[in-house]
Parts: sequence; C-alpha cells; structure tokens
Amino acid sequence: MTDHVIVRDDGAVRTIRMNRPEKKNALTSAMYDAMAAAIEDFGSRAALHCLLIAGVPGSFSSGNDLNDFMTVALGGQGLGGAVIRFLHALARNEKPLVAAVQGVAVGIGTTMLLHCDQVVAGTDARLSTPFVGLGLVPEAASSLLAPRLMGQRRAFSLLVMGRPLDASAAQAAGIVTTVTAPDQVEAEAMKVAHEIAALPPQAVAVSRRLMRGSPDELSARIDEEAELFKTRLKSPEARAAFEAFLTRKR
Ligand code: COA
Repeated sequence: MTDHVIVRDDGAVRTIRMNRPEKKNALTSAMYDAMAAAIEDFGSRAALHCLLIAGVPGSFSSGNDLNDFMTVALGGQGLGGAVIRFLHALARNEKPLVAAVQGVAVGIGTTMLLHCDQVVAGTDARLSTPFVGLGLVPEAASSLLAPRLMGQRRAFSLLVMGRPLDASAAQAAGIVTTVTAPDQVEAEAMKVAHEIAALPPQAVAVSRRLMRGSPDELSARIDEEAELFKTRLKSPEARAAFEAFLTRKR
C-alpha cells in the first residue's frame, strides 16, 4: 500500500485523492495499483454511486513518474502491470466519474479526464500531453476518445503537437465542464458528484453505458496503445527525453 493515494467515502461518493505533492503527483506503480483497487472496489459496492478523482492544490498530476519510464528505457522491467490495471479499471468502470483538477495535469493526468463524465477545473488548470515530444505515443485510449470528443484536428494539436490547454481552452474543447476559482474546485466537484449520486443509480449506469459505447472497444485500444508505448519507451528518442528532464539544471 501507499500513502500517496487517499481513499475516502462520503455518503454515496468515493473520493480517490492523488497525494504526492512534492513530486507534483507524479504517479508510481504503487499509486496506480492503489487507484485501480479503489476503482474496482467502488464498482462492487452498491451503496457508492459516484467516484471523484482529485489531486492537491497546484497539481492534479504531473503524469507517470519519469524515473520509472527511465528504468524501462534502460532495459529494466517494472512498468506495465499497474498502469494497465488502472487504465482497464477506468475503462471498465460502469458508474459515473467526476474529476477535480487544480494546476498541472500532464500525460495520464490529462488522458484520465477523457474517461470522466464531469470535469471541474480551476482557472489555474493546465492540461498537456507531451507524449510525442518524449518519443512516446498517446495512451489510456486517448487516441480513440480525444478525436471523438474534440475532433481529429484539435486532438492532433493536443496529443501529437503537445500544445497545452488552459482551463478555458479545455472547456471549449469539451474536456472540462466547469471552470471555477482554484480554491472552489473541490467543493464544486463534490457538489456535482453528490448531485449525480442522488439520481437513480441503475438508470445512470445504463444511460452512461449507452453514451460511452462498448468498454471492450476502450480496452482493446488501451492494449494496442500499450504495446506501441512499451516499444517507444525503449527508443533512443525517449531515453534522451527522460534524461534531459531528470538531469536538467535549475
Ligand atoms: N516524474 C518524476 N518526477 C517529477 C515529475 C514526473 N512526471 N513531474 C515533476 N516531478 C518532480 C520534479 O523532478 C521535482 O522534483 P525535485 O524537487 O526532487 O527536483 C518536483 O517534482 C517538482 O517539479 P518541478 O519541475 O520543480 O515543478 P514545476 O512547477 O517547475 O513544473 C511540471 C511542473 C509538471 C510542468 C514539470 O515538473 C514537468 O514537466 N514534469 C514532467 C511531466 C511529464 O513529462 N510527465 C510525463 C508525461 S507522459
């Protein structure tokens, strides 16, 4: 277990909080495992109707821990199981997801938002997916979900060109539903989560399923992306990019 993920239930709403502020909520295998377990368990509890994913002030998540990427780039093992488990848990989850985003949301910090039904963001939110600049490819079924949500060209700007989105641009693109002051994000997201949780849960789940399409399609895309991602992680392009970040002078 890890204390970098905090899980709390408040009535019918479960909150999963990423809590590694000193690293801007960079995600480790232990964190992915803890988050996956919390989502899987949420799915099995009839009394829980809505899941809220939150970070800390200034950091929703800076994405995968680049030290872990570097380990794989240098030929080590270790990455894969936990993150894939987390992504499949997200894709296969049947109940509504709300996100509360403050500050940076990088890589999987942005792509996990594509699985959420409502996203409340602070005016300080900055979404970015620098996959290609790191020599990598998009993940979390974002190559399927982003073009569907915002159109192929805007998805290309985000996922391939790595152009960041501020809160209002993310709202215009359809990723974010509500923008508010950073210190209001959590309260607003919790309000939305309780509003959804008060609806008849089975009708919500069936409606959501109709709107999202087949979870098998999402799972298949996650696996297809993951195969390519693993190959790219070992590429000289990726290794150089991780090294540049990890040895940067400040
Ligand atoms: N992996 C590992 N460590 C990370 C990290 C990541 N993804 N993101 C941030 N950190 C660490 C930094 O190395 C730093 O650690 P240190 O204090 O021990 O040196 C600490 O978190 C704070 O980050 P810092 O870069 O000083 O904060 P910032 O506000 O200047 O910038 C970011 C924040 C998120 C823009 C910047 O850290 C960043 O670009 N991170 C990498 C994001 C990334 O490429 N993720 C993978 C996407 S696929």
